Amino acid sequence: ARGGRLIVVSNRVALPRQTATGGLASAMRSALQERGGLWFGWSGKIANQTAGTLRYQQDGPVRYATMDLSRSDHDHFYDGYANRTLWPLLHYRPDLVDYNRGHLDGYLRVNRLFAERLAELIEPDDVIWINDYHLIPLAAMLRQRHIRNRIGFFLHTPLPADGLLITLPRHRELLGTLASYDLIGLHTARDQRSLEDYFVHELGASLRRGHRLRYGDRRFRAGVFPIGIDTQQVAQDAKQADSLEEIAQLRASLDGRVLIIGVDRLDYSKGLPQRFEAYARLLERAPEMHRKVSFLQIAPPSRGTVPEYRQIRRELERSAGHINGTYAAPDWAPIRYVNNSFPHSLLSGYYRHAKVGLVTPMRDGMNLVAKEYVASQDPDDPGVLVLSRFAGAAQELSQALLVNPADTEEVADALEQALSMPLAERRRRWRSMMDVLEKQDITAWRQSFLGALTD
Ligand code: UDP
Ligand code: G6P
Repeated sequence: ARGGRLIVVSNRVALPRQTATGGLASAMRSALQERGGLWFGWSGKIANQTAGTLRYQQDGPVRYATMDLSRSDHDHFYDGYANRTLWPLLHYRPDLVDYNRGHLDGYLRVNRLFAERLAELIEPDDVIWINDYHLIPLAAMLRQRHIRNRIGFFLHTPLPADGLLITLPRHRELLGTLASYDLIGLHTARDQRSLEDYFVHELGASLRRGHRLRYGDRRFRAGVFPIGIDTQQVAQDAKQADSLEEIAQLRASLDGRVLIIGVDRLDYSKGLPQRFEAYARLLERAPEMHRKVSFLQIAPPSRGTVPEYRQIRRELERSAGHINGTYAAPDWAPIRYVNNSFPHSLLSGYYRHAKVGLVTPMRDGMNLVAKEYVASQDPDDPGVLVLSRFAGAAQELSQALLVNPADTEEVADALEQALSMPLAERRRRWRSMMDVLEKQDITAWRQSFLGALTD
């Protein structure tokens, strides 16, 4: 199977010449650019009918096949079951889970349409790589259509402990279908443990050596494959960004002040209210910092038709306004809060110019921003990463200043420590993290997952 074509499937697809906000799309774009293959998924558009026709596009070695969703399928499948039921559950927010049968029906219907259209394209040697929580039952539906190819699944979010998974109504019917894959990839050993515990204790599967599971007549494996970035490319982009007009403008506007940066989709899992509060606490505790620091939070709106996302947006507007109102001076605004997305080429320049990268999700599968921040630094004068322990990235980036994002004082302490860290310590910590990022880059990730899948 090694020589076969690669078919990547995900709901979100990074179409050519579009800014891909979201870890899955940005990582898969780099992974596929090198390997080549077919990328199958949602066009991002709403039409009269779901999967009416497939639209093909070619970009270098990558061929895209995308389909539209109908309004009602978009509302039930994407907004509903994927983003209001599964997303909060997977990010340890059972309080936000909105379950209803209509959402589930829409989710299954769209997965069936994906299976139908995909099955027509599959050739016997193809290797199929399905991504994320939108498409959990897809392999089972392909198997019903007698697809016998190797099929792998990668979950880009955390997988919570079995005690939480069982709160999902009809969880067995959904999660049991994971057994139709040959390989399930997860970011961390904790996520892998959750999967194994769930299969063993809830479904009665048996677990053998090498994380091999047996459930009914299916045998499959759960593996840890922490996703990486294109480390060299990011480092190179960051260096080259120095000559961009936007970077010169940012620098001029700072007027010698120290920059702290955060970059996140506007999502409640990212811990933004807590982050703003910790920054405000720093300003309260350390008046000598006033007018010397500036916090730039880039937060492009995400899933804006889902009520919980509208709510967090309102909350952050209030909080940013409150902090600026409390601490600003006529010539200084402590927070620059920007609801816009930026291309990687520019973001890496912003990262490089920031003395502190503040990445404090309450839960995150991996968090690529943390890795991009590190890879963008100037080796001679690197900035400091303050990182939540609850991001998958904390497993690899142990030389960051690791914090519990819910602990306002701890985050404020880490900010103070970062802002005053001596050059030698900054270099030592940066080098150690950069070693990891150079070794475990996006190419290594793709190769190890596909290697394990086709083995
Ligand atoms: N991103 C971007 N432009 C933006 C904001 C984010 O290109 O304005 C990218 C960012 O560089 C990263 C991805 O979106 O590659 C976010 O991935 P991450 O794993 O940090 O979080 P996710 O959005 O997947 O939860
Ligand atoms: C996370 C999810 C991805 C998703 C991305 C952006 O990274 O794991 O599956 O694509 O967020 O969210 P969106 O809803 O815009 O695709």
